[in-house]
Amino acid sequence: MVRRTLVTGIAEVSSAMAEAYDAVEVIVTKRDGRTLSDGQIDWVVDAYTRGVVAAEQMSALAMAILLNGMDRREISRWTQAMIASGERMDFSALSRPTSDKHSTGGVGDKVTLPLAPLVAACEVAVPQLSGRGLGHTGGTLDKLESIPGWRCDLTYDDMIEQLEKVGAVICAAGSTLAPADKLLYGLRDVTGTVEAVPLIASSIMSKKIAEGTGDLVLDVKVGSGAFMKDLQSARELARTMVDLGKDAGVTTVALLTDMDTPLGLTAGNVIEVQESLEVLAGGGPSDVVELTLALAREMLTAVGRDDVDPADKLADGSAMDVWRAMITAQGGDAQAALPTARHSQTVSAPSSGVLTRLDALSVGVAAWRLGAGRARKEDPVQAGAGVVMHAKPGDEVTAGQPLLTLLTDEPDRFARAEDSLAEAFDIQPDATVVRRDIILDRISDSSDRARSVSASPSRTNR
Ligand code: URA
Repeated sequence: MVRRTLVTGIAEVSSAMAEAYDAVEVIVTKRDGRTLSDGQIDWVVDAYTRGVVAAEQMSALAMAILLNGMDRREISRWTQAMIASGERMDFSALSRPTSDKHSTGGVGDKVTLPLAPLVAACEVAVPQLSGRGLGHTGGTLDKLESIPGWRCDLTYDDMIEQLEKVGAVICAAGSTLAPADKLLYGLRDVTGTVEAVPLIASSIMSKKIAEGTGDLVLDVKVGSGAFMKDLQSARELARTMVDLGKDAGVTTVALLTDMDTPLGLTAGNVIEVQESLEVLAGGGPSDVVELTLALAREMLTAVGRDDVDPADKLADGSAMDVWRAMITAQGGDAQAALPTARHSQTVSAPSSGVLTRLDALSVGVAAWRLGAGRARKEDPVQAGAGVVMHAKPGDEVTAGQPLLTLLTDEPDRFARAEDSLAEAFDIQPDATVVRRDIILDRISDSSDRARSVSASPSRTNR
């Protein structure tokens, strides 16, 4: 073991000597393309959380991991070390089985809202710890906070009580779950190291496993509006996460789903709540309904409840009943009028023909610039801001008809939103569009995967 050699004082020498490993030695191991030992991983994650490993050292290690990858043992150990940095929740004493879903995030992805009450209506408990949006992808908590009175800060006891009584909870993850990930994610964000598959997979799975989930269904988004821009990198991420679940005893299945075009017809906060209510009422856009039902079936199958058809629970209103109970239990007024944006502006079709492309990233950036999202995590969001789509790829449009409606409380935001939409769509005369399937692949067993996850998605897929 290499001990620290450059020291500036007695106190520093003694504190360095008390540590089991040396940060520079760990960085050099990965920099030179070697594998980290279990002891090195446990130590570096713990020492970073304690403030002993400095941010610049962890940045260097994250970059070495991005460039040289990690094997399955390393990723699994890294995930366990992040879980061990905080508390673990346990829902095993509940009277119903639990099932959980995680989406890697996309534009218009409101599926958690109808999905949690839908699965709960099938007698399976859904403890859904969610986050806020950052950048062009929306956050479930931001959407739900557009409902008057609704609050996301529940204690563990509140969650247990609500899961027993109502069956579904959507709330904020406390700071005690995988605190190492919180620190590391912030660091990756500012050091160009977010896009490392081992780090993305361990970040997501450490939180999910620490949440005490028994079974997990992953929705890995693929396309312009997603982290993973192509199927190959999305498959690699999905397989890595399925492996991590297996190693931790959590049955994990991943659906790879399209995010080249936004999901549904809305991207924003309150407008996504309204679209979710349409789904719960038995209507809603077909892609949102299809994905919600596919994820619900996976969650039910995982806990042996594939005898129940979730479509029946949308049709008979029982999923809507659970939604109302879930919103009320968290202080929300499920009957209250929802807020609306103060200003709107229309983007019209410049020509007649078939809409052949509507780019998810451009729509997401427009919604964000209108005020639906935040640039820094402390920024507020507008409940009413966002983009309503009046056509999706494959639809015929006529010159001059509304294509998009932009919504905001601050009209000086329209210009920048329109800028992001300048190249967002194509209309072609007489075109035939084969609509891309919403579900592109399913990954449940990883026995045939490559053993080493070598680099970031953009690097592996050139
Ligand atoms: N979501 C996470 O929680 N972590 C990542 O690293 C990426 C997306």
